[in-house]
Amino acid sequence: MSQVVAISDLHADIRENREWLHTLCDGDHRDEILLLAGDVASDPECVAQVLEALVDAFEFVFFVPGNHDLWVSSEESANSVQRLEVLRALCERLGVLTEPTVVQDHEGRNAAVIVPLLSWYAEPEESPDSLFLPKQGEDGSLSMWADRQRIRWPDYVTHPARFFLEQNEPLLITSQALPTISFSHFLPRRELIFSSTTEKARFGRQGGDRAPRFNFSRVAGTAGLERQIRRLNSLVHVHGHQHRNRDRVIDGVRYVSHCLGYPQERRDAGVNTAEVYPAEVFRF
Ligand SMILES: [Fe+2]
Repeated sequence: MSQVVAISDLHADIRENREWLHTLCDGDHRDEILLLAGDVASDPECVAQVLEALVDAFEFVFFVPGNHDLWVSSEESANSVQRLEVLRALCERLGVLTEPTVVQDHEGRNAAVIVPLLSWYAEPEESPDSLFLPKQGEDGSLSMWADRQRIRWPDYVTHPARFFLEQNEPLLITSQALPTISFSHFLPRRELIFSSTTEKARFGRQGGDRAPRFNFSRVAGTAGLERQIRRLNSLVHVHGHQHRNRDRVIDGVRYVSHCLGYPQERRDAGVNTAEVYPAEVFRF
């Protein structure tokens, strides 16, 4: 029996999160396929170390970058697209999977298709696909949002959300025969920004509004991602980014978000770091 498990937002630049990771990698994960839904770390060296440790521990590791993974923070990359290319080369070298792949059971039978989806957020000024909702008293310039300083696009990338979804297009293979599990860093639907009653009961208090002038919906994701998920006919779609856990079925698709997040967020939510474990999303 194999399991597909998922986690996002490891932010392994933080010591406490790195310690969690060491403990995770000490366990036996040879029957587990890990979906890593972005924001491994901001420091390129740290991203490389984490991917290397995970690929050694798990049967397979699939990865899509989050915004932090694409910060331009060293001489290595002039912009975030170059950073993406460096990450792709790193993944190829380590054996981390970044493209749609059929996974097999222990008898060698095809069991599921895993589809990593690149993505970015559409801001309300850029596209009607933005997941934006107005918020009273917000700072619309997003001056507090670190991507404003740390993300750099080359001139030809005028709509980052569209640019990333276009990268997925040639790889969108729809399987009628096998269950499809897709994953992205960013959110595909606006309602996932908010907890359902069941999620509130299951995951408890997840953060308050510690930055009243910050409107997350401006940078949450894109509805273009949802269109690709529907074309794929995904059974499950995993996402990250908001540092809020979700597990909900909408129109036949199960959406799961399961993060490590920041130590302060775990303390606020009363979550014991030692008890965080990648969430099971599929078993075969
Ligand atoms: Fe993120």
